[in-house]
Amino acid sequence: MYCAYDTAMSWEHNCIRGPQFQGADPIVPEVPLKQFLGLPVGSRFGIAAGLLPNSNWVLPYARRGFDILTWKTVRSVARPCYPVPNWVIVDDGGRADGPVTVIERWTGDEQQLSAAVCFGMPSQAPEQWRADIRWTAGQLLPGQLLIVSVVASPQPDWSLAQTADDFAVCAGWAAEAGAQVIEANLSCPNVCSAEGAIFLDVAATRQVVQAIRTAIGKVPLLLKVGLFPQQQLLLEFLQAVDGMANGVTLVNCVTREVLRADGQPVFGERYRRAGVIGRSIHQPSVAAVRQVRQLISSYGLNLQVAAVGGVSSVEDAGDFFLAGADAVLCGSSPAYFPNLAVQVKQQQPEW
Ligand SMILES: Cc1cc2nc3c(=O)[nH]c(=O)nc-3n(C[C@H](O)[C@H](O)[C@H](O)COP(=O)(O)O)c2cc1C
Repeated sequence: MYCAYDTAMSWEHNCIRGPQFQGADPIVPEVPLKQFLGLPVGSRFGIAAGLLPNSNWVLPYARRGFDILTWKTVRSVARPCYPVPNWVIVDDGGRADGPVTVIERWTGDEQQLSAAVCFGMPSQAPEQWRADIRWTAGQLLPGQLLIVSVVASPQPDWSLAQTADDFAVCAGWAAEAGAQVIEANLSCPNVCSAEGAIFLDVAATRQVVQAIRTAIGKVPLLLKVGLFPQQQLLLEFLQAVDGMANGVTLVNCVTREVLRADGQPVFGERYRRAGVIGRSIHQPSVAAVRQVRQLISSYGLNLQVAAVGGVSSVEDAGDFFLAGADAVLCGSSPAYFPNLAVQVKQQQPEW
């Protein structure tokens, strides 16, 4: 099976090596400009926070026609990655919840693939990512949009105000380095500390978003969230951030137990539950986007929606546009299908 990211090797190794593509670079079709978050984009299709940790990854994918490029979440301090494995293929047994089981060798159609990831939101040192973002931003073509995802790194004794400030520091640095949009990651399933699920706490979210807004001025701000357990909480979240954030990116991974065939947790006991991605989460993600779009319309909110979850074909992206997404992003599939943006531009140049 082909994958541009070498899952047998460390994240640090992959950062240095960049994506491994097969064959010649494709010819990217010319398409008319559109808008996302009020900014010009060639297509409202791109890559979510994950696969693009540095210029070695952002630029090769930009050259393959992905126009919305999200820099993998960065921190205000360097943080190593968890040990390998960080990315495994899984079988969900056709069930929407309960454990998923690792598949050692995938021989089927990659478009049907589900996976689980557990990296722990590693980050290069801020001096390094700030310089790299600055350089990368200068290399992108007109119509390409660089989003930088940020998160706080709270110490166990930090107050919420300190966590909010740390989010704001990162966001300010990213904006100053050339990020055209900031994304605050309020929803990492694979960390056990406070930055993991801020989106489920509306008051905390407000405080964090307010601090970021103060730090970045008018730069557009997206909030990355997971699935909400109840519609009421989702509505309260959307109403709380309306007017401060410009949009939401959903969904992050869906958290489930990830077990090897022998029943042992593949990422270790501490991360027995980790983020499931790919085919398994596509339908729930489409339903979540539809629900968010309906709430935004019904309550007259001024928020855009970037949809993520199990997009590995033009048809999958179409599901999200039909559900009301303003932009569609892929998390993992560009590792298997690096020509997906070219296919989108060939088949749906108006996206
Ligand atoms: C290698 C990898 C690393 C990821 N790292 C991050 C991250 O740092 N921040 C984040 O918000 N999401 C991260 N994600 C989650 C993706 O942004 C996305 O929400 C998830 O993969 C679901 O999309 P998919 O089904 O298209 O893969 C990561 C995903 C992958 C595959």
